[in-house]
Amino acid sequence: MKIGVYPGSFDPFTIGHLDVLKSAADLFDLVYVAVLNNSGKNPVFTAQERVEMIRKTIEAEQLGNVRYGLFDGLLVDYAASVNATFIIRGLRAITDFEYEFQIDAVNRHLSEGVRTVYFMASPAHSFLSSSNVKEIGRYGGTIEGLVPACNEYFIRERLARQ
Ligand code: PNS
Repeated sequence: MKIGVYPGSFDPFTIGHLDVLKSAADLFDLVYVAVLNNSGKNPVFTAQERVEMIRKTIEAEQLGNVRYGLFDGLLVDYAASVNATFIIRGLRAITDFEYEFQIDAVNRHLSEGVRTVYFMASPAHSFLSSSNVKEIGRYGGTIEGLVPACNEYFIRERLARQ
């Protein structure tokens, strides 16, 4: 059984993330979306809120082979705990490459058994990031079509109050 982990801060989960997740769900028998419980990154949404938005998205999209969870510490340890041998990441522009290259090098150093696969973002999502969503939302712009519809209201209200 091929098991993959799709890790990230997901602050918040965007339709770009969803696009990657759907591709991964097509390729793997089982995919775990792993939300980093990263107080160091000062996320806008709490870990529980991010997990809940992902849970709702998985349910709305009827992704039957996708699970979700929170993790602290090293990604390779989380991957081992769910028997995953693949890490899944998305790539948008060339600027993502340097960052991903470093993460991959560290993970390979830590664990020889885990490999990373990358899905290119669709051109329609190449500009999209969680940071952009937060900035647009804070200044009252529309985030429609940038985040899963089931979470749009929650994200909009939350950002408007910031
Ligand atoms: O969505 P992000 O913030 O780009 O995701 C980064 C993530 C979660 C993949 C990375 O920070 C991570 O794996 N953190 C856990 C700690 C770890 O394993 N570090 C070694 C690899 S950098």
